[in-house]
Amino acid sequence: MAINPNTAWPNLHNLYLAASGGGKSQAIKQNKEIPAQGARVVAWDVDEDHNVRHFDSRPAFARALLSACKSGRGFRIGWAGAGDVGTFEWFCQLVFAALDGRVKTHVLIEELADVSPSAGKATPAFGQLLRRGRKYGAVIHAASQRGTEISKTVYTQCSRHWVGIQEGVDVDRMARLCAVPPDLIKGLKPLQFLYKEAGKPPVKRQLNKPGK
Ligand SMILES: Nc1ncnc2c1ncn2[C@@H]1O[C@H](COP(=O)(O)OP(=O)(O)O)[C@@H](O)[C@H]1O
Ligand SMILES: [Mg+2]
Repeated sequence: MAINPNTAWPNLHNLYLAASGGGKSQAIKQNKEIPAQGARVVAWDVDEDHNVRHFDSRPAFARALLSACKSGRGFRIGWAGAGDVGTFEWFCQLVFAALDGRVKTHVLIEELADVSPSAGKATPAFGQLLRRGRKYGAVIHAASQRGTEISKTVYTQCSRHWVGIQEGVDVDRMARLCAVPPDLIKGLKPLQFLYKEAGKPPVKRQLNKPGK
């Protein structure tokens, strides 16, 4: 079970929303709030976009996560096996159990729409991670290309929204969901985002060109 609850942790969850090639994975990689060294990072990374140690067997992933937590040091571990909803629920349950409220754990979730059965309620284990993870140090970084297909819970539970290029039909809905002006969204290019913290005006962020 997750240990050492600390209700003082603020909500630092991030939601990255952009069409394919918009720069979601890059926005996570270039996010300076994830330290390059020493951080606890665990990723749902079926397409292997991230620089983490990948596993495709449940027992091997669970063992690696457990021993990484016991080590007391940072780690970068990712799931790159089956990408179905049931496996995602297993992943979320395991990640929740690995949390320790004395330290942050960055949880990267790539292509959330692929493991979202509906735009309604979040699935149970993912919902638990979203709602209860914060006080155990979780910082979620969830990326999705189809913002209309993910649970509303995700929008309300993430205090930081990153809005990148959108398909035309999605602009107005995204503008409403993230409280940013539609014209600002229409002016975006790949690797550009409107970064919106709850209660603050949006700020334009330009990512670096990815290296090879
Ligand atoms: N290693 C790389 N070298 C050069 N260009 C890259 C590399 N990775 C990504 N890109 C480019 O950066 C942009 C953003 O990519 P990415 O962050 O993967 O988008 P998304 O995750 O939103 O689909 C794309 O235009 C992509 O072609
Ligand atoms: Mg990506």
